[in-house]
Amino acid sequence: MKNVAVFGATGYAGIELTQILGGHPGVRAARFASDRLAGTSVAEHTGASVTCAYASTEETLGNLGEVDVAFLCTPGDVSLDLATKIRSAAQTCVIDLSGAHRLDDVGAWKAHYGQKASSDDYAIGSYGLPELFRAQGPLTALVANPGCYATAVALALAPAVEAGVVHEDALMVSAMSGVTGAGRSSREDLSFGELSDDARAYKVLRHQHVPEIEMALRRLTKAPLKVTFTPHLVPIRRGILVTAQLRLRSGMDTAALAALYRARYEGEPFVRVLGAPEDVTLRKVVGTNHTVLGVASDGHAAVVMLALDNLVKGAAGQAVQNMNRYLGFPETEGLLTLRRFAP
Ligand SMILES: NC(=O)c1ccc[n+]([C@@H]2O[C@H](COP(=O)([O-])OP(=O)(O)OC[C@H]3O[C@@H](n4cnc5c(N)ncnc54)[C@H](OP(=O)(O)O)[C@@H]3O)[C@@H](O)[C@H]2O)c1
Repeated sequence: MKNVAVFGATGYAGIELTQILGGHPGVRAARFASDRLAGTSVAEHTGASVTCAYASTEETLGNLGEVDVAFLCTPGDVSLDLATKIRSAAQTCVIDLSGAHRLDDVGAWKAHYGQKASSDDYAIGSYGLPELFRAQGPLTALVANPGCYATAVALALAPAVEAGVVHEDALMVSAMSGVTGAGRSSREDLSFGELSDDARAYKVLRHQHVPEIEMALRRLTKAPLKVTFTPHLVPIRRGILVTAQLRLRSGMDTAALAALYRARYEGEPFVRVLGAPEDVTLRKVVGTNHTVLGVASDGHAAVVMLALDNLVKGAAGQAVQNMNRYLGFPETEGLLTLRRFAP
């Protein structure tokens, strides 16, 4: 049995993680940090099966002696600071859900996450996307949990890019995301009145997950590639639906492409290749750590659709997958019985 701590436990990702950890058979005691709710009941705020109260960030930091894994569900600049403090004081493994330790390009890291930090302080974590990088070796004690869009897009593109069957300089991807992707923000453009009955693109050609997606795919191919990514905000609470449009190098029909994807993800407990892109829906995955995808080809162009829950496979569920790997639990422990959004 292991002890864990969650920083930023009152955010969307932190609450999801609290609920998963509350039902994890290998976790004995957990500490949940929140300055806003310190002293109040965790169960009351989250519905999770835990009996403790939130403690302040400072108190939790001073109480990490027997903690095996600390999760950071905090904004990037806060994660940078917390990771440095935790790693200098304790042997605790840090799993950071922010982007602060993901990128191998210091320039891109500085632009998106490290504006206030010195490049000398930058530490790269093991990139925790098990389905693509498990075979490359065990995780280190600093794990960079991938971004929600980055997880979705990398899983959608990896089999085709790895096999060299598509033009790597023209990977066109759009995605729809629910509003929890932006966190518990009080921004006006994320308020109900602005969002409901509407849909819009945002951060066109400048989303911070593009360098991360390209980094992940480059690690598989060792070749230059270009992802053009357009994210959309749609008025649903959770879930990401990706549409990737790819140009095939040589005629490959739908059956051959589907066979390629099935072979790549064979045995993966959290990735399912469905019969067709039209079968891919958010209802099949929301509330779970599962990803579903479907492919189609006309011999020249291919379409890959993929769906996952941004707060589970895109954040807390994947973080628990990484904790399981780091601690030597079965990778699926605590993750196969999560609630589902619809039958
Ligand atoms: N939402 C997603 O779909 C998603 C997916 C993948 C990764 N992520 C990443 O996960 C992290 C958390 O995202 P989220 O959506 O859960 O955000 P969120 O809902 O805005 O929650 C942020 C959390 O961080 C805490 N926090 C903020 N400033 C802090 C500080 N100075 N010291 C200590 N705690 C502080 C907040 O505490 P208070 O409640 O006290 O303000 C809150 O618990 C972010 O880095 C995000 O990029 C999010």
